[in-house]
Amino acid sequence: MKTIILNNGVEMPILGFGVYQVTPEETEQVVSNALEVGYRSLDTAQAYYNEEGVGKAITKSGISRKDIFLTTKVWVSNAGYEKAKASIDESLKKLQTSYIDLLLIHQPFGDYYGTYRAMEDAYKEGKVRAIGVSNFYPDRYIDLVEHNNIVPAINQLETNIFNGQIESEKIMQEYGTQLESWAPFAEGKNNFFNNEILTAIGEKYHKSVAQVTLRYFIQRQVVLIPKTVNKERMIENLSVFDFELSNEDMKQIAALNKEETAFFSHRDPELVKFILNYDKNNRS
Ligand SMILES: NC(=O)c1ccc[n+]([C@@H]2O[C@H](COP(=O)([O-])OP(=O)(O)OC[C@H]3O[C@@H](n4cnc5c(N)ncnc54)[C@H](OP(=O)(O)O)[C@@H]3O)[C@@H](O)[C@H]2O)c1
Repeated sequence: MKTIILNNGVEMPILGFGVYQVTPEETEQVVSNALEVGYRSLDTAQAYYNEEGVGKAITKSGISRKDIFLTTKVWVSNAGYEKAKASIDESLKKLQTSYIDLLLIHQPFGDYYGTYRAMEDAYKEGKVRAIGVSNFYPDRYIDLVEHNNIVPAINQLETNIFNGQIESEKIMQEYGTQLESWAPFAEGKNNFFNNEILTAIGEKYHKSVAQVTLRYFIQRQVVLIPKTVNKERMIENLSVFDFELSNEDMKQIAALNKEETAFFSHRDPELVKFILNYDKNNRS
């Protein structure tokens, strides 16, 4: 597996597996399948309510812990130094592990400066190998970086063919933060899986729209964590290291980028309210 070296020297697989919207009941089996077909990087979050299933699958797999790269994220309801600190220990327990490879602030809301200090301390204590953020657009990202000691290793942003994050990535590169994509397939929105340009490019290489897209971002050096509950698709999404897109293909795909979200803006007041109430509305 091709890897990326983060700003603190930690090595991360460029392609992993995300478990957002995988139900707590199905998570253990889905993650077991993902590990079986070869994924070694897993992306979960406190707010996915499925850390336990991820932990069980890792333990049962018999794969050495050091061969798995595990990411989780602190949710807004755990923001602030003390709550975040306790929530990190809770995540470690649920994940059945003594350390997390990458810990992210999930959303730029609440007392996330307190959260970040708790994460910096967890990093110094060896509970976490790298820390970073998610959904931090340039304004909040720069402010956080300038007011803390550890530069985030990763910023996980919605990144797909419609929303390429070219400008955000440029700013993050100035500071040394790696871009990681969430929703590389835009969850199928905008008729993504039938996109004509991606289909035509795929035909040349006998590859699917999903594979062409993953390959495009790999060649752009963006870290990816596509999600699927389907084992055949898990294999399909992993089979992207045996072909290379030409410069012309890369340009054609880049031209699809409108820097427009397929989901929502983090600056939309309704979205902010939704996120702030998410845990209250979803806690089982
Ligand atoms: N930090 C954040 O705020 C944030 C937000 C969203 C997501 N994420 C992370 O990013 C990961 C990926 O994003 P995502 O799950 O939102 O969306 P995604 O990976 O863009 O899309 C997942 C969807 O695509 C389908 N799919 C997957 N592979 C396919 C293939 N080869 N052919 C056809 N359909 C395919 C899946 O269906 P099936 O499952 O039915 O196959 C699912 O409906 C998440 O799981 C999560 O770990 C983070």
